[in-house]
Amino acid sequence: MRRKLAAGNWKMNGTGAALSELEALCKSHPDASVDILICPPATLLSRAADTVRGSAVTIGGQDCHAASAGAHTGDISAEMLLDAGATSVILGHSERRVDHEEHDEDIRAKACAAMDAGLKAIICVGESLEQREAANTLDIIGGQMSGSIPDQATGENLIIAYEPIWAIGTGKVPTLDEIGEVHDFIRARLERRFGEGVGRSVRLVYGGSVKPSNAAEIFAVSNVDGALVGGASLKARDFTGIIQALESV
Ligand code: PGA
Repeated sequence: MRRKLAAGNWKMNGTGAALSELEALCKSHPDASVDILICPPATLLSRAADTVRGSAVTIGGQDCHAASAGAHTGDISAEMLLDAGATSVILGHSERRVDHEEHDEDIRAKACAAMDAGLKAIICVGESLEQREAANTLDIIGGQMSGSIPDQATGENLIIAYEPIWAIGTGKVPTLDEIGEVHDFIRARLERRFGEGVGRSVRLVYGGSVKPSNAAEIFAVSNVDGALVGGASLKARDFTGIIQALESV
């Protein structure tokens, strides 16, 4: 059985005041039956780790460098994330692919670094609207998977987030059939490459405009093991609604 995961990506949002939301989230889920992860901006990582200590909530980063240390001004290594209290790191989010021109090979190198450091890598894949309209979605996802997932991936160190770019922050969500088609495809690809044991144990989460109001139907789709949530993870109340929907699947 794969343990469900509700992951929140705060992106470039939040100063110290936002930790009160994290505190409220911890209090609302004293013994959660699903994994709960919040990825705050790097400036909040250590304080967030202190805030969640002893609770069911864990903390993650939003990116890391492929090297473990060195002359890389402004960057953060996987070891540094781990040292700050992170258990996981989001890699290859479409905003990083676009804003920082990250390509599959960069993401693969970062994922290797994260896994070597003992972090779980949450690798994001997803098509643009243009690619979907041209019926290229599965080709794009397949290419991103082979390019960005390292050979050392296991059910323990890898989570894949399917995030259609056109659904992120837009309020638009694919149909449940479309989500199911992509998640089934990702599962089949993983089983083909890594064998059934590993392929079946990797968690696949959906991301893109997940809210308390649409979470339950998305979580009922086959091979959806949870969500990667942006906007609706910023307020404890909204994220709690999503966590509760995941707990009742
Ligand atoms: P959203 O973002 O929930 O605000 O659409 C999702 C994401 O980018 O991970």
